[in-house]
Amino acid sequence: MKQELLFLPTLVTIKEIKPEIPAVATFRLPKPDGFSHKAGQFLEVSLFGKGEVPISISSPPSYEDLLLTIRNSGYVTGAIHKLKEGDVLGIRGPLGNTFPYEEYEGWDVIFVGGGIGLAPLRSLLWEMLYHRDKFGRILLLYGARSPADLLYPWQYEEFERNGVEILLTVDRGDEKWTGNVGVVTTLFDKVKIEPERTVAYVCGPPIMIRFAMRDLVEKIGIAPHNCIATLERHMKCGVGKCGHCVIAEKYVCIDGPVFRYPEIKMLERYDDPW
Ligand SMILES: Cc1cc2nc3c(=O)[nH]c(=O)nc-3n(C[C@H](O)[C@H](O)[C@H](O)COP(=O)(O)OP(=O)(O)OC[C@H]3O[C@@H](n4cnc5c(N)ncnc54)[C@H](O)[C@@H]3O)c2cc1C
Ligand code: FES
Repeated sequence: MKQELLFLPTLVTIKEIKPEIPAVATFRLPKPDGFSHKAGQFLEVSLFGKGEVPISISSPPSYEDLLLTIRNSGYVTGAIHKLKEGDVLGIRGPLGNTFPYEEYEGWDVIFVGGGIGLAPLRSLLWEMLYHRDKFGRILLLYGARSPADLLYPWQYEEFERNGVEILLTVDRGDEKWTGNVGVVTTLFDKVKIEPERTVAYVCGPPIMIRFAMRDLVEKIGIAPHNCIATLERHMKCGVGKCGHCVIAEKYVCIDGPVFRYPEIKMLERYDDPW
């Protein structure tokens, strides 16, 4: 991107707003001319007079539109949630690095998600499903606070039809819930994985990422290099200029947000990003 365009948002009109779970909705936006991204990247999304927030792209690169799943968690995201279809948003990007995945063709894949952390993983999951024959088993281990907080339930059947093995868990069940209760790492005991040919992609709350990565390496035996997570660090510019996201010598906005476990352990030594 040209230097002078780094901070200039492109205005796009919201095509559709799909309520998902409480306080979370997916915004469908048109792709600006020439826009292309890769799974793992994010956008800086702006609303005039309110501000700008980093949001992961949850649609796969080859999908016709951009899908952003946004939780109403504060000042800017709250204002975005008040918008209607036909209203205008600014976007800058795509920003950040991408999930490495071409090198894992022929491997088994395990996605481990917590809460709204399924949104960035969904982009890569669909990208792999579009090229289903290039990957072995694909497992999705996903947990949320309650059954009502499980994101994208309308899509699970389609995932399964495309050969995804899904295991769900919730922290607290309800009268209808017959599935697993417990944190997402309790699902690790229920799957048989060949660690030497499996890559893991993790996203969720910081504490969940920490324990999931540790168990994937220490209990399941996946090599640390093949455990990959996307981190949500506080950001401002998103393009390596303001220093807001820096940990040690890493700019999470441009060196990340996707990191392998050894890099995450290194970052943890300098500053607790969790
Ligand atoms: C690379 C990246 C990708 C992200 N992808 C998504 C996404 O796909 N969907 C989504 O809903 N959110 C995503 N987030 C988080 C989102 O950017 C924050 O929720 C948002 O910036 C909060 O802004 P606000 O003005 O609404 O809240 P504020 O009023 O600023 O803050 C409300 C609360 O949110 C916390 N918060 C503020 N910024 C962040 C942040 N960057 N990460 C975590 N907590 C924060 C604050 O500490 C405070 O507790 C992502 C963040 C990053 C860095
Ligand atoms: S957010 Fe400004 S340097 Fe990373």
